[in-house]
Amino acid sequence: MVIMADWDRHLRAAQAAAREAGAMLRSGMEGGARISFKGAVDLVTEFDCRAQDLIVDRLAAAFPDHGFLAEEGLNRGEKNELCWVIDPLDGTTNFAHRFPIFAVSIALEHQGRVVLGVVYDPMREEIFHALEGGGAWLNGSGIRVSAVDNLDRSLLATGFPYDLRESPVNNIVHFNHFLIRAQAVRRCGSAALDLCHVACGRFDGFWELKLKPWDQAAGALIVEEAGGHVTNFEGAVFLISSRECLATNGLIHEAMIRILALGKEKPEDRGGLDG
Ligand code: IPD
Ligand code: CA
Ligand code: CA
Repeated sequence: MVIMADWDRHLRAAQAAAREAGAMLRSGMEGGARISFKGAVDLVTEFDCRAQDLIVDRLAAAFPDHGFLAEEGLNRGEKNELCWVIDPLDGTTNFAHRFPIFAVSIALEHQGRVVLGVVYDPMREEIFHALEGGGAWLNGSGIRVSAVDNLDRSLLATGFPYDLRESPVNNIVHFNHFLIRAQAVRRCGSAALDLCHVACGRFDGFWELKLKPWDQAAGALIVEEAGGHVTNFEGAVFLISSRECLATNGLIHEAMIRILALGKEKPEDRGGLDG
């Protein structure tokens, strides 16, 4: 069992770095950012890198022995006892189009377990955080997952991998299934925020595949600490390296697993969407 107070200094440092990077992103969005492409649809802006440099500078100054795993090409001391897992700008496509939904995501792993998560939405000035065993918080107030227990009444969120044009494992089958079974499905463009919105009850469930550790590390802890449930698509243990993330209020988890299982069957066995 982790003693929460152990991580107070780490939490304050992560929150300060997230706020500082978020403020830079907020002012940078309006100015227009230089964009380059990593793949056909996967882009990166100068602000992804600037935000990452800022966060890593601040955290490395405070914790010189810690490792860092961050999206824009930083993997230094990933096997250290303590390692920061950082997405400096989750929602890059939105940011590049000035669609104001994006976030900074920072998690701390201790001996391979995520013990701290911070997600900052600079446009709404909402900062989410959780410490393992210490509950989940939004701007200092405790948060809980929703009480919706029926998929039919659920608002769900998802996202799509950048290789969706090339790979058949692209979430479109699952999306089609949920679209006709849930109350509605949203695709907002920031997995870290999607998870936080499950944690505070705005969404009832979220699924996505092929996320990276930095997309999901902080948000998954925040969901769990808000009383939610996070697993792979079959209900098995979730790790931040997992290729499948299913995060719900717990009440609709089994129903979502059943729908996800339909999408794993071969189309010829499925015989349509009902099942
Ligand atoms: C992306 C966002 C998006 C999700 C993608 C992620 P990025 O992260 O979280 O919502 O659907 O799978 O890669 O590239 O904006 O940091
Ligand atoms: Ca991301
Ligand atoms: Ca990113």
